[in-house]
Amino acid sequence: MPPAIPDSSFLDRLKSIVGSKGWIASDSAGKYFADPRERFHGSAALVVLPSSTKQVSDVVAACNETKVGIIPFGGGTGGVAGHIEIDGKLPIVLSLERMYAVRSFSKDDNSIIAEAGCILANIQEVAQNNNRRFGLSLASEGSCSIGGNLASNAGGIQVLRYGNSRDLCMGIEAVMPDGSVLNDLKPLHKNNTGYDLRHLLIGSEGTLGIITAAALKLSPQPEASVTVMCAVASPAAALTLLHAIRDKLGETVTAFELVSGLGVELAIKHFEALTDPFHSPFDWYVLAEVEGHKDIRRQLEEILAGELDREALVDAVVAVSEKQSRSLWDLRELAYEYNLKEGVLCSSDTSVPISRIENFINLTDDAICDLDPNLRVNRYGHIGDGNIHINILPPEGVSKQSYLQKHPDFRESARMIVNETTHQCGGSISAEHGIGRLKIADLQRYADPTKLATMRNIKNAIDPNGIMNPGAMFAA
Ligand code: LAC
Ligand code: ZN
Repeated sequence: MPPAIPDSSFLDRLKSIVGSKGWIASDSAGKYFADPRERFHGSAALVVLPSSTKQVSDVVAACNETKVGIIPFGGGTGGVAGHIEIDGKLPIVLSLERMYAVRSFSKDDNSIIAEAGCILANIQEVAQNNNRRFGLSLASEGSCSIGGNLASNAGGIQVLRYGNSRDLCMGIEAVMPDGSVLNDLKPLHKNNTGYDLRHLLIGSEGTLGIITAAALKLSPQPEASVTVMCAVASPAAALTLLHAIRDKLGETVTAFELVSGLGVELAIKHFEALTDPFHSPFDWYVLAEVEGHKDIRRQLEEILAGELDREALVDAVVAVSEKQSRSLWDLRELAYEYNLKEGVLCSSDTSVPISRIENFINLTDDAICDLDPNLRVNRYGHIGDGNIHINILPPEGVSKQSYLQKHPDFRESARMIVNETTHQCGGSISAEHGIGRLKIADLQRYADPTKLATMRNIKNAIDPNGIMNPGAMFAA
């Protein structure tokens, strides 16, 4: 049954739960309706901003009673429209942004307990101030929230060392769809007591409940960090280099990102302060962060010198200052922005087994070239996780609008190309951004039927009124 449309007396009831500072009328709620990729515009009858778990619980209980849909909102950076209603319906948006406290830090437990609205960068900073590291790192870390990260099981650039959001969470507090509060906020490494509801809620994209706080796992802060940008012969050569570093230095590779020649060219074109660190352009690069004890730079340089003698590694620039490290990382982390500026037509987030990456890139390149040989393709991303983002750009000198006007079916064809090659390579149609409202049909098409049926059963059992993020993950 579709969720009910809230009337004004119901909205008044919600307003009285959250108080005068706890709500925003829908006509001034711009930020909550924005899509970072600028494809949709959201809608809601009211935005509520509870300031405590109790208020979240009261709002959810009221919505459940009247069967009004709730869209939980973290930082709005997910990229798959998990946080916006795109069909013009009028649910409630529930933003966790006023719940931003770091409730505690424990040295012995090596953990932080933080509320869902805490900005990821703030959590990283608290960890760092205590000589610890919180291992999740994303380009949007200055604005995304830990609640959203967990709800979408976000990945990012340090997954190969620290894992996905899921791996960094030891316990959660959550409000379930009937308004009851799940108290499972213990920083336990071992907790074998039946179904793990933490892992059910993590990655559920707000469709099973609202995470209000989490016990987060910290790691030691490495003594030294080295940023290196390498020109490599191919994606396969990038992996050879990754293995060579790991074989000799163990789990010291914090990030290992593939960057394309086109990516560097576009970064420089759209961001004046950026420059090419090499004397001449190359087709492929790796940008890596290697961290460990204080001798790590010397050890890494030795490995690079050895690999330069082989054919895979062509050239390398090891950053000599934090400033240089930052500008090398900007060449990669500004990808989202420079792709947008260049009129990106479509972008992807799929993963394949690492052994199939080269195959995946070649198959995708060939199929896009068959579609239109003039298109430009920027392939980059988390090669150490098998998660390459394919961003297709219009032919040189052609605008996004005019290309899409001439080729109205282009986006669908391109999406299918990436999905099919991913599937052919034994991969997943969503690697780190989730399903949201964008990938519902893809999930239906590619997921195991037993998985789909079980997901539906779980959804119906936990949220029988269908109020939690209606229209996300499952068709409304
Ligand atoms: C990235 C985001 C888009 O890796 O996933 O840049
Ligand atoms: Zn990514």
